[in-house]
Amino acid sequence: MSRRAIYLDHNATTAVLPEVAREMVPFLSVYYGNPSSAYSLGQESKQALRSARRRVARLLGGREEEILFTGGGTESDNTALWSALRTSGKRELVTTLVEHPAIYRLCQELEKDGYRVRWIPVGADGRLDPAEVARAIGSETAVVSVMTANNETGVLFPIREVSEICRAHGVLFHTDAVQATAKVPVDVSEIPVDFLSVSAHKFGGPKGVGALYVRDGVPFRPFLWGGSQERGRRAGTENVAAIVGMGRAAELAAERVEQYGARVGKLRDRFEQAILSGLVDVRINGHPTERVPNTSNLCFANIESEALLLELDRQGIQASGGSACSTGSAKPSRVLVAMGLSPREAFASVRFSLGWNQTEEEIDLAAAAVIEAVCRIREKLPASVLTR
Ligand SMILES: Cc1ncc(COP(=O)(O)O)c(C=O)c1O
Repeated sequence: MSRRAIYLDHNATTAVLPEVAREMVPFLSVYYGNPSSAYSLGQESKQALRSARRRVARLLGGREEEILFTGGGTESDNTALWSALRTSGKRELVTTLVEHPAIYRLCQELEKDGYRVRWIPVGADGRLDPAEVARAIGSETAVVSVMTANNETGVLFPIREVSEICRAHGVLFHTDAVQATAKVPVDVSEIPVDFLSVSAHKFGGPKGVGALYVRDGVPFRPFLWGGSQERGRRAGTENVAAIVGMGRAAELAAERVEQYGARVGKLRDRFEQAILSGLVDVRINGHPTERVPNTSNLCFANIESEALLLELDRQGIQASGGSACSTGSAKPSRVLVAMGLSPREAFASVRFSLGWNQTEEEIDLAAAAVIEAVCRIREKLPASVLTR
């Protein structure tokens, strides 16, 4: 077995692409001006922000003025929900049980402060029924927040239907598109979303920078107050180099998104087929086709994901047991439990998420390593614990 590292955790983060890093570097040293400064050094930075904003807008199908740079997906999510609550004056939110903690934990905190949250369940395949959203919306609903793709299973949500329901009810709609952007086409000119969150480090950009799309005309209140950066919508001196990197990553993503599905999807299917045919008692968590093309969440009966991940790590293969944010916690994945898995099944599940630059050879090596590791762990188990 090769000792070469094979990274299969691209939903946690991705490496900064070389083209992206190259464009960022001058903005750390040569063009270090503050974009708010009137002299030419500052104006170079201001121009760079403009160009990045244009590139991100193009990726999302929006307009430059509708893009707000933030400190990442978490800040974009928090900004959107707070803005909707404050501008509407209403005290109710509708969201799903499987959102990323950036929405889920915020909603739990809001509940403690007296806001009402209507939690929508998902089916056994991880999908959401848009009719549930329509049923949950009430006269006090300020905003509906439904992710575009789930970070653990990759399952895609019916964002078009949900956004149309929200529009018909006159309720603001936010989608967390952090795991969908650059993997599937995301186009705000086609879908009536009011807010949409993205994060650069999930598609070859740097960490700690993201964007929030805010549709023109949607009432907005800033989350961070201070200087008048981002047209007074997000205070704080801009992280120019990171924003430049996000812009370049967005440009590359826009060029590649159609190919991404074919290329990465083929590798993911190859990986799954190898494992499903090489092992008994393994199944895919989530809808088999309505998923982003890079994600494979597998449940291996009689396996503890931690033991499997440790074994794979020893062989240079990195994957994750649930979301990266909850790794190390002793709780079963909330997302998998919401889909009806028992805690035991959730603890037996591993997320593999592939990347653009991965090769067939790597995928074959990784699948063989998973099969070997699962067989080895199962062999050691006493017959009494084996469930069939
Ligand atoms: C669906 C989703 N939303 C939000 C985030 C948070 O993004 P960031 O790490 O940029 O704060 C993540 C990161 O894992 C995510 O997967």
